[in-house]
Amino acid sequence: MTLVNPQWRSANLQTSPLDLHQLQFRWHSKKLVMSKNAVDLLMSDYQRLEEWCSGLEEIADALPDIDQAQTSRALHFAKQNALLHFRDFEERLIPLLKKRVSEDHWSVLTNVSEEHVKDECLVYELLEIFERFDGRRSYLDPNALGFFLRSLFEIFRRHTTWEKAIILPLAQRHLSSNDITNLLQVMMQFRDDVNAIE
Ligand SMILES: [Fe+2]
Repeated sequence: MTLVNPQWRSANLQTSPLDLHQLQFRWHSKKLVMSKNAVDLLMSDYQRLEEWCSGLEEIADALPDIDQAQTSRALHFAKQNALLHFRDFEERLIPLLKKRVSEDHWSVLTNVSEEHVKDECLVYELLEIFERFDGRRSYLDPNALGFFLRSLFEIFRRHTTWEKAIILPLAQRHLSSNDITNLLQVMMQFRDDVNAIE
């Protein structure tokens, strides 16, 4: 029987003293972020990914001018949060869902994984471009950089919209409370790994 945690549907982040140790972690520009469960954490990550896309759009709009501080923030996010998204899904959520859903759903999960491979390549390409900035200039022609940035944020916006509409509901329907607790613990460990490197 599939167990559904009714708290998933609540927007309120309520905690109790007993589970606080599971809920608190340091993330996103040193701000304390609290998530009640893995789905809440994924949703808050989507929000940050969408903010990152808006930042990339602002960088593209400002070309040929480049704000070094803004590109540094976008670079930092790409290294940390954007790459974590692929780890969350490919190392944990997708394999877990494949165990819980019928084979009818496997094709959509395979499609997500295939998109992740392509999108991760784009993020690494972005890292290379931003890391090679020379002061306020890119080695790329502004038109080429603008085209790349616009392609990237449009792909990510479509990707996150699709996952929120298809994958998260699938997780809510098919993962047990125990699955979701374990998933949160693993995702928090991934974030602790990143913080340990910083
Ligand atoms: Fe994704």
